[in-house]
Amino acid sequence: MGKKIYIVAMGGTIAGRAGDSAATTGYQAGAVGVDDLLAAVPGLPSVARVTGEQLAAIDSKDITAADQLRLVKRVRELLLSNEVDGVVITHGTDTLEESAYLLDLVHFVDKPVVLTGAMRPATALSADGPLNILDAVRVAAADDARDRGVMVVLNNEIHSARQVTKLSSMAVETFQSPNGGAIGVVNDGQVVFFHCPDCHHLPNALGASEILTRQDELPYVPILYGHGDDDGRLVKAVAETGAKAIVYAGMGNGSIPERVEKELAAAVTNGIIVVRSSSSPAGMVTKAEESYEQAGFIASGMLNPRKARLLLQLMLVCGKTAADVRKFLA
Ligand code: SIN
Repeated sequence: MGKKIYIVAMGGTIAGRAGDSAATTGYQAGAVGVDDLLAAVPGLPSVARVTGEQLAAIDSKDITAADQLRLVKRVRELLLSNEVDGVVITHGTDTLEESAYLLDLVHFVDKPVVLTGAMRPATALSADGPLNILDAVRVAAADDARDRGVMVVLNNEIHSARQVTKLSSMAVETFQSPNGGAIGVVNDGQVVFFHCPDCHHLPNALGASEILTRQDELPYVPILYGHGDDDGRLVKAVAETGAKAIVYAGMGNGSIPERVEKELAAAVTNGIIVVRSSSSPAGMVTKAEESYEQAGFIASGMLNPRKARLLLQLMLVCGKTAADVRKFLA
């Protein structure tokens, strides 16, 4: 009979169409529909019983919180259905890690959810999309994939949503987990995991899965990118927008220039939650300077700025406080 795997198509380069088969830029993302995407993967019916739908057809740089919430709600419905054993989402790579992490934070059942994408459009010579879809379906249908939360599968590798990031702007091996590495591979069609499931997934960690079904937007949480000669004026400007939380993508171990630190400390005093993350793609952000602790800044641990932002958005929606955020990240 085979497992019942449901595909949710969101657009992206995997569904991109270019005028020239040698072109890997300048194409229209999200132009190829889900039926054509699946038709380009001839081996699919022998792996699982695959059906799907087009939920969006966007270049993922344009994704909004409303789109993300629509995806979260649809995936929840699918996971609750007896007609679905696993879900595969085809998604643009630019914000794939964000949708993956958001879905992982609310993932509440043992059924696998797998996101995949492609770096070359569907019309390109050596398009990487069809094999990525086949591998993603293989993972979603694998018994061993249960209880592992949300995963990202591209280029024959399996990554956990919490750790994975898009590292290269161009390479097909762009998705990497700089701290822990891949959690598995798809070797010649065989799904192999290297790690135990609970190292990478905390099921419905915030209890937000149900809460998000009633949500059509997410709170404004900006990321400020640290750099030499940063004078903190953007922190001041953001504080005036009414933002309830800020992620500061600092340098190295979440280091903050003194002038910015002063403004961020004032923001905390005014009730804004400040999380220190890093522009460095690998390593952790720890407590570091004593003054950061005294000011009430919270270290993001392994979360990169974009994931720290999503976590804050969800925690604010759930009515959590700075103390809750600190506890969760610890
Ligand atoms: C997108 O993120 O939608 C475009 C880029 C890509 O999918 O690689």
